[in-house]
Amino acid sequence: MSSQDIPEENLPAEQDAHGEASVADDKDPFADPGLPPHEHRIQDIDERAAKRSERAVAFLFTVSMLATVGFIASYVAIDADKSVYIFPLGHISALNFALGMTLGVSLFCIGAGAVHWARTLMSDEEVAEERHAVQSPPEVKAKVLADFADGARESAIGRRKLVRNTMFGALALFPLSGVILLRDLGPLPGTKLRHTRWSKGKLLVNMNTNEPLRPSDVAVGSLTFCKPEGLEEHDHDFQVEIAKAALMIVRIQPDNIKDKRELEWSHEGIVAYSKICTHVGCPISLYEQQTHHALCPCHQSTFDLSDGARVIFGPAGHALPQLRIGVNDEGYLEALGDFDEPVGPAFWERG
Ligand code: FES
Repeated sequence: MSSQDIPEENLPAEQDAHGEASVADDKDPFADPGLPPHEHRIQDIDERAAKRSERAVAFLFTVSMLATVGFIASYVAIDADKSVYIFPLGHISALNFALGMTLGVSLFCIGAGAVHWARTLMSDEEVAEERHAVQSPPEVKAKVLADFADGARESAIGRRKLVRNTMFGALALFPLSGVILLRDLGPLPGTKLRHTRWSKGKLLVNMNTNEPLRPSDVAVGSLTFCKPEGLEEHDHDFQVEIAKAALMIVRIQPDNIKDKRELEWSHEGIVAYSKICTHVGCPISLYEQQTHHALCPCHQSTFDLSDGARVIFGPAGHALPQLRIGVNDEGYLEALGDFDEPVGPAFWERG
């Protein structure tokens, strides 16, 4: 049945969603046009159609109930080993097929019934709710301020100055407890990061042979790693100390040394530089004897050892620190002091 079949006296009066006319007109074409007029469904205007929809929804829900009962009955009654031929699936487990079908029908009918109910019987009238002002009205604000003033007065915080002042003092001092506990994080590093085990007179000891070095042990083009005399691998702080004191020794023809200070701090072309990369602290381990370049394997920072170990490539931001060396009375290479700047990553040498 269509709405044309309904007697005119049964039809509701025409109106828009709010019973108001649209506000857009020729003067203001951009005015809010409001909601379109509500169109009635056949179920809204014909009780017999509504009854039919109700029966359809009830039928779907009833089928769902029966399917659920069928599911339980299948589970109880059908032997798990029994198979059944279903075209086009072939031979499959009868139990699985029955459980799947009944469960599927049960869920489908619940969904279909709910959708049909919503589309035909529930109200489909669109409504719009005006947005309320976010700001509180003045009387609410005034009440909140009055309540706050009442609370302050009743707490006597204004009158009992001794209580108020001691409370502020207690609250101000309380965070100090947490600050004091920071001390347990350990002793401050002091100047430890700025100094290494090198000092005047410390012999340069070959890390491979554990023997002090003589100038004759260092050939031109070779790369030798050294540690300070007295630092042994079994020392409990060996790793900490060698991480700062590791040294690399190369021999360059003095004529090829471009940096004046480097030449002064060397001995017969033997130069000693920190082995710790100034980028993020990897040990430098590669040396190109033709170019005098030392290469850090981590991020390829490259240092020119014939020119003050300045950075010629890569992310390192600072030249490698040089150790001033000489030869003692017995002919061994020795340090003439500590590094004159912190070794390793540039971030803490600037601190
Ligand atoms: S640590 Fe050497 S380049 Fe990054």
